[in-house]
Order: sequence, then structure tokens, then C-alpha cells
Amino acid sequence: MVRAIGIDAGGTLTKIAYINEEQQLILKHEPSTNLQEVAAFIDAHPEVEKVGLTGGRAEQLRQLVTTEKEFAYVVEFEATLKGVRFLLERENIDLKRAIITNIGSGTSVHYMNDDTYKRVSGTGIGGGTLIGLSALLTGVFNYNEMSELAQQGSRKSIDLMVADIFKGQEIPAPLHPDLTASNFGKVGIDLRSDYKQEDILATVARLVGEVITTLSIQLAQQYEVDDIIYIGTTLKDHPVLREVIADYTVIKQKNPIFLDDQGYSGAIGALNKMRTMKQQ
Ligand SMILES: Nc1ncnc2c1ncn2[C@@H]1O[C@H](COP(=O)(O)OP(=O)(O)OP(=O)(O)O)[C@@H](O)[C@H]1O
Ligand SMILES: [Mg+2]
Repeated sequence: MVRAIGIDAGGTLTKIAYINEEQQLILKHEPSTNLQEVAAFIDAHPEVEKVGLTGGRAEQLRQLVTTEKEFAYVVEFEATLKGVRFLLERENIDLKRAIITNIGSGTSVHYMNDDTYKRVSGTGIGGGTLIGLSALLTGVFNYNEMSELAQQGSRKSIDLMVADIFKGQEIPAPLHPDLTASNFGKVGIDLRSDYKQEDILATVARLVGEVITTLSIQLAQQYEVDDIIYIGTTLKDHPVLREVIADYTVIKQKNPIFLDDQGYSGAIGALNKMRTMKQQ
């Protein structure tokens, strides 16, 4: 028996959060190309009268449900904020103001101030880019495989670093030898084509991570906040991407926060909305 269901139907993955008979929170995801299966899961639980829905593909999912059901749509940003608040509380993190960067298929950047929430920026560079570029450049299409290979690789032979340009000469501030001067910049200089898959995958993750972090940091500076909460399923099983984001955020003197189950903020938000409605 299931007590309540919240679903975030995203561009790439559909996240499901539900409460089981033992009052445990269960989280799982399906590719959004399988909305049919998610609809079958909803249909298989007639005991749940109302389902909380969010995400860009929520309506497409609703249309696939065949049983009598009531749906409560939650605006994606509202669901995400609710979910993030739940995850922060669960980890005893007391935070009033922060930048929230949601790395989904693309990336949305939000400013959280208590219970208010504003979308302040975004970029099409996100998890979809990580998979798409990695696949096109290496032929590896599987997210987990590309993540594992990236961990064995290095960007050193592909990215052009500030140190590579100055070659031991004094580097003027604010430049730093370990900063990237040009992502993939060495390729056009060395004119090689024999790069290892692992190295290409590590370099793609670096590119995606740096773009997202640069944007997030600028917003954190603009809104004068110290903390940046990075969420989205893209971070789930990708230690290289996380490390790039964490290190770069710290270099820029901001505090990166990664929450457990960070891909499920929207689904948890939609679920919690259902639970508050029920208690009313
Ligand atoms: N098992 C997986 N299969 C596919 N992608 C995965 C998987 N695990 C992690 N990912 C990564 O997660 C990304 C999708 O993240 P997320 O689920 O947060 O986005 P979304 O909600 O579908 O997209 P959006 O919010 O932009 O509509 C993928 O682009 C990929 O990089
Ligand atoms: Mg999403």
C-alpha cells in the first residue's frame, strides 16, 4: 500500500517520491521516455486518490493515467524550494538565504530567501550537455559508464591552463596558474587527435561544471550570499562533476552545499504539498 505520491516529470528523468505503508519515504526514477511505466505505477495504486505533479512533462504523464485520479499541479520552482527545504531540515542545515542551482537536463539558478524563491538565471548547459557531448566525442552513451571513465581520466592534456600560457613566468593577479585559460584549448594548439576516452570525458565534465559554477558564483555575488546549494540528478553518481563544482566554488570563496537525494527535490516538494493538503 502506498500512502501518498509526488512526481517530478523532467525533460530527461521522471522522479517519483512516495510514502509506503511503514511511513518510509521511497525515491526512484525512470527515464522520461518511459512515462507509460510511471502512469502504470500510478494506476496500480487505487488507494491513492490524489497525486502531486510537477515538472515540464507533468501534463503528458497525466494524460497517460487511465484510472480515476485527482492531480494537484505544483509549479516546478515552488516544488523544488519545498523539497530543498525538506532536505536541508533533514540534514540539520539552517539556511535562510542561498543560491540554488538545479542541474537537470539544462540548468536553472534560483535565489532563495526564506520562503520566497526567484529564478534568477539559467543556461542550456546541464546534464543533457554532459551526456550529449560525452557521447558524441567518445561513443559512450551511458551516464554511469561515462562517470566511471571520467574518474580515471585527466583534463591535463586537453584543457589549456593559465600556467601553460605563462610557462613559468610571473602570473599577474587575479589570474592563477591552476585556472583554466581555455576549455579544450590545447587541442587546437597541439593538433593531436589521439586523446584517451577517459581524458575527454573528464574534460567534458570539467567544462560543464565550470560553466555552471561560474554562473552560480556570479549570482551569489550579486545577491550577496555565501552558500550555493547544487541540486539535480546530474550530480547523483558523478564524483568528477561534483569535485569540479565544489573546488571551483571554494576557489571563488563561496560555500558549496550538496544534499543527499538532491535529484528528488521537485518530487519531494510535490509529495509534501499533497501531505499538507491532506492534513488540512
Ligand atoms: N540513470 C540515468 N539516466 C540518465 N541520466 C542520468 C541518470 N542518472 C543521472 N543522470 C543525469 O541526470 C540528468 C537529468 O537530471 P534531472 O533528472 O535533474 O533533470 P530533469 O528534471 O529530467 O530535467 P529538467 O529539470 O531540465 O526538465 C541527465 O541529463 C544526466 O546527466
Ligand atoms: Mg528537473
